[in-house]
Amino acid sequence: MKIVVVGTGYVGLVAGTCFSNTGHSVTCVDVNPDIVERLKQGQIPIYEPGLEDMVKRNVAEGNLHFTTSLEEAMEGALLVFLCVGTPEGEGGRADLSYVYAAAKQVGRAMTGYTIVVSKSTCPVGTAERVREIIRAETTQEFDMASNPEFLKEGNAVDDFVKPDRVVIGTDNVRVEAILRELYRPYVRTGNPVLSMDIPTAEFTKYACNTMLASRISMVNEFATIADTLGVDMTMVREGMAFDRRIGPHFLFPGLGYGGSCFPKDVVALSDIAQQQGVEAHMIDAIQRVNHEQRQRFIDSVMSHYGHDISGKSFAVWGAAFKPKTDDLREAPALTIIDHLLEQGARVAVHDPEAHEGMMEIYGDRVSIAQDMYEMLEGTHAVIVCTEWSKFHNPNFERMR
Ligand code: NAI
Repeated sequence: MKIVVVGTGYVGLVAGTCFSNTGHSVTCVDVNPDIVERLKQGQIPIYEPGLEDMVKRNVAEGNLHFTTSLEEAMEGALLVFLCVGTPEGEGGRADLSYVYAAAKQVGRAMTGYTIVVSKSTCPVGTAERVREIIRAETTQEFDMASNPEFLKEGNAVDDFVKPDRVVIGTDNVRVEAILRELYRPYVRTGNPVLSMDIPTAEFTKYACNTMLASRISMVNEFATIADTLGVDMTMVREGMAFDRRIGPHFLFPGLGYGGSCFPKDVVALSDIAQQQGVEAHMIDAIQRVNHEQRQRFIDSVMSHYGHDISGKSFAVWGAAFKPKTDDLREAPALTIIDHLLEQGARVAVHDPEAHEGMMEIYGDRVSIAQDMYEMLEGTHAVIVCTEWSKFHNPNFERMR
């Protein structure tokens, strides 16, 4: 099949590359010429384990192409995946301007029957609005579908090729059959492809992310209570995790959730509920706990130093919002670092993959350390913000 992927970020690049890896002809389009230029030269603009090799192999085999020209890409394409960002907008509402702009461009560039699939995380009703936008731009026949993406950054390629399930939102049996065929190589071990109507698929994605975020806030709240009682939260967690109704995932207390999805999707679902006149008590509490979790950590640092850290120097290990990614969006480390800087402390940061992004955000306000030990010379404290595996068992002798 000839496939176009619009938006070559974490989702678009992974999806496009994986589709090309199963023999489809894929063209990834991005409005950012730097991204496209880097990809054409075989440089991957994001860090995602296993992705670089797969991109290079499929480019070499002629299955995977990159361009800024949607018109060129759309020539003869059957499937167009919208993978543009849906960041947090005003009042927490999902900002759909990228989706709508992409829809307009897709409508204008259509040369024949096309199936337009939204992979971006969008509130219920967005696909319908996209359909209207495209219809206003073209006389070509087309169908809409929603195919939310459930990959995790840091494990994205593996998640994509071995999904727990694939969700297809469509009102058309032919579209369903084509999308089932596209995903067939990834569900050979029996993982389900669930088809449902488009609004239900759109909502499913928000429900999943909010459920996962709720586990993080819940376990963080338990940890806060456990601390006051002198209870060992690690054992509590184990005692919970072996209960099959609970399970082990997302049960680690820490600085709270961050990243490009949970924060914006939880707040967007809260906004959706509000628009529907539903008071979403649980969803609002998830966010409050998450916010307070960062603040609680900052308070503990401040109180350790008698509420004065000016002139003190801090080494921060880990900046990305979680290990195995370079993504800094909504990373808890940024909240911590911002506070340290505001209070007049000096900050050095080491992260295995996020140095480029940190330099873009902070310039020379923080120093970037290539070596996680050398940076400790003369430092007052080490703060571990991201649980990269290299930080699990540091060489304490060397640190001393
Ligand atoms: P991203 O911000 O990494 O990438 C979006 C890309 O789209 C950017 O490179 C941007 O230049 C490009 N773009 C914007 N407008 C465009 C246009 N009109 N034409 C062509 N390119 C355009 O975003 P990311 O993280 O890949 O997320 C995309 C969507 O997928 C979001 O809705 C997100 O919520 C969802 N999602 C993200 C996951 C993740 O782990 N990052 C996981 C599952 C879903």
